[in-house]
Amino acid sequence: MEAKWWQPFRQLDDVEVVHVDLCPDAPREQRARTWLDDEERQRADRFQHEGARRRYVLCRAALRSLLISALDCRNQQLAFKAAEHGKPFATVDGQPALVSFNVSHSGRHGLIALTCRGRVGVDVEERVPQRNLDLLVGAVLSPEERAEVTAARGRRQLHLFLDLWTMKEALSKAHGEGLSMDVAAFEIPRHLRNGARGGEFRFADALDAAWWLENIGTDRFAAAVAHERDRR
Ligand SMILES: CC(C)(COP(=O)(O)OP(=O)(O)OC[C@H]1O[C@@H](n2cnc3c(N)ncnc32)[C@H](O)[C@@H]1OP(=O)(O)O)[C@@H](O)C(=O)NCCC(=O)NCCS
Repeated sequence: MEAKWWQPFRQLDDVEVVHVDLCPDAPREQRARTWLDDEERQRADRFQHEGARRRYVLCRAALRSLLISALDCRNQQLAFKAAEHGKPFATVDGQPALVSFNVSHSGRHGLIALTCRGRVGVDVEERVPQRNLDLLVGAVLSPEERAEVTAARGRRQLHLFLDLWTMKEALSKAHGEGLSMDVAAFEIPRHLRNGARGGEFRFADALDAAWWLENIGTDRFAAAVAHERDRR
């Protein structure tokens, strides 16, 4: 039997992060597809771009396998629903499951974060040159962050931008609003911008909730996880 295409990547306190190999592999994708339900297969068929379809199918099948183990249920009992801004959550026999998760994919890399406690968000971006980097910098960074990225040069500039971008997106995905949140309106804490790997974060309009933000990037990809800590 073919080996799994996902493997443990990081364990952060209560959060397990799994890496999913998204390299093209038709037999693997075919096998993963058989684990999906009708609705998921219909969604897969609607993707025009084969890379986007592959990323969805391989991540969703890996997620199913991880949740089946975590929730001790059968694949047929498991389904997914979406919250207000589209953040998926799992149900078992129609009841919301007690495991939070979040998924991200970029190029050949997928990440899945799972936890039994609090909301979680994850984001990954392959470290490849971005078209329209200037536009992205203007759209998602605060004035101070923008000045720091603009002052950096060459690969350092791209890396810094991607680190900031994945940390912001992990926070917005943990929160559940995704890109409907104005990520330029909040700032990544300075020590994280200067290379620290982890630190606490609070949204200015919701100071009662603390989030742990961890930069889990590698040479191949930028990545971050945001995890809800206990509320005050
Ligand atoms: C979620 C979002 C941030 C994804 O960004 P991205 O960089 O393109 O994609 P990523 O690979 O990081 O994440 C995709 C995954 O995030 C998850 N996701 C979708 N919506 C989400 C949300 N609101 N919050 C957190 N996670 C979400 C899904 O699992 C999705 O993967 P899947 O479709 O394969 O299951 C972006 O699509 C978004 O903001 N969507 C919501 C936009 C919205 O609210 N629109 C309403 C008005 S049009």
